[in-house]
Amino acid sequence: MRLDKFLSETNTLTRSEAKAAIKKGQVFVNGSVNKDPGANISETTDEIRFQNRVIEYRKFLYFVLNKPAGYVVSENEEDGEPVSKLLPEEYKSRLKPVGRLDKNTSGLLLFTNDGETAHILLSPKNHVEKTYLVKCEKDVSDEDIRRLSEGVNLGDGEISLPAKVKRGEDETELYLTIHEGKYHQVKRMMVATCNKVIFLKRISFGGLALENLSIEEGEGRLLNSEEADILLAKGIK
Ligand code: URA
Repeated sequence: MRLDKFLSETNTLTRSEAKAAIKKGQVFVNGSVNKDPGANISETTDEIRFQNRVIEYRKFLYFVLNKPAGYVVSENEEDGEPVSKLLPEEYKSRLKPVGRLDKNTSGLLLFTNDGETAHILLSPKNHVEKTYLVKCEKDVSDEDIRRLSEGVNLGDGEISLPAKVKRGEDETELYLTIHEGKYHQVKRMMVATCNKVIFLKRISFGGLALENLSIEEGEGRLLNSEEADILLAKGIK
């Protein structure tokens, strides 16, 4: 890989900044200055150093966004404001969302360029858990909780898989953990109990809990390697 490409792919510098820094002699390859932006380096065996820091090459990136309500997981501007607008410029075209959240749903949304892991995380057969904080229009009865835990008819004959259901702060609030992601799944599960979702937030996904990630609503960041390992463990990569 070219040296300037390495620096931009690792998000150390933009491609033009990388070229300039290399030409100024600020980049070291295996301990020696290399002033050629087009120098061919190995991202796995060469040690690249910039500003006294060894740059680690990460082929796959995992970016977590705390999505606010009002943004759509779609690139079609006609559907609304695309959620990708909240991503830093350098990731906008590179990372894709892992699954979807509805426009009025907030919370944890993952983006990655690792298609294989994305597929694993989304496939119902891998039982990757997603937990939602659900506020409903009406009180939820014990019988509703029992039905949601066992599986309900989603309206077209499809039955939801068994879910974990816990009560929230009051009778209208639930923590619902599911491991499938059918269209409007949580909303349809609540409709099956003759109720209606009035607030929906995904608070955890694939072993990552929003409260541990310390990300304000509307903001996001790359997962560090320990956090990414939690996700990767689901796929045993
Ligand atoms: N279930 C829904 O109904 N909507 C979402 O955004 C996520 C899960």
